Amino acid sequence: MNTCETVAAIRALRKGWTGSVALVPTMGALHAGHMALVREAKRRADHVVASIFVNPTQFGDPRDLETYPRTLDADRTLLTEHGVEALFLPSVGEMYPDGDETIVETTRLSGLFHGAVRPGHFRGVATVVTKLFNIVQPDMALFGEKDYQQLAVIRTMARDLHMPVQVVGVPTLREPDGLAMSSRNARLSPEARSAATVLNRALDRAEALARDHVAVERIAETIREVIAQEPRATLRGLDIVDAESFTPVVRYITRRAGIMLSAEVGGVLLIDQREIEPPKEPR
Ligand code: PAF
Repeated sequence: MNTCETVAAIRALRKGWTGSVALVPTMGALHAGHMALVREAKRRADHVVASIFVNPTQFGDPRDLETYPRTLDADRTLLTEHGVEALFLPSVGEMYPDGDETIVETTRLSGLFHGAVRPGHFRGVATVVTKLFNIVQPDMALFGEKDYQQLAVIRTMARDLHMPVQVVGVPTLREPDGLAMSSRNARLSPEARSAATVLNRALDRAEALARDHVAVERIAETIREVIAQEPRATLRGLDIVDAESFTPVVRYITRRAGIMLSAEVGGVLLIDQREIEPPKEPR
């Protein structure tokens, strides 16, 4: 696997390739969920580039940035084993050179839902992903569906700015007990790790209620009750949105909808999501 630390180096490498190129953007601390993105990228494209960059502009809390897990040696091994052709591994100075002042923002979406809980987060994501797209110039880029709103932000940005990149969402991979795979899971104590399964349990309950035509208000209440039963977890965000328009669902789920959940468990902010199809039988 080639490792490129500069924009010039990854551009020179990419220039020599013929055929399609897929980018898997990551912040490292790679796990099986990332490898699912790599597998899908390899299935779709002739060349696969992964990037590892812990992007400071998407962290509000400096401690969250400082303590973000970094496991570069293990990451390189995983990417090599999974047949990634190139790793883009820039420094902060390479991505944000002196005098950098340009930002990219989806003006409606980035302030809503998770964005209201983490001000500036989606602006940081949109800005860095734009830079990565411009640097690597991939034909497609793959992102996990767990970060449901992030995926919507990136799709909106690519559409609005006419970026010639296909944005591909890949379903969330889960541990056997249902916990969504995330780099942040590495920061959970054993007690918090077991408490963290409450997010998936709450989503299971919500999905069952949605299938029974229960109103969204009651679904949201049930999610709150399930999370409240776990003393190590504090609910931070809960939104039920129309999957297409990303506007809140008002009474009943009658079209494809997404439930987005964020909770702090043992001091670690975790997110999870479930996409719900509307019930087939009439109410
Ligand atoms: O999902 C992530 O790991 C990050 O938000 C991303 C898309 C790599 C941008 O920094």
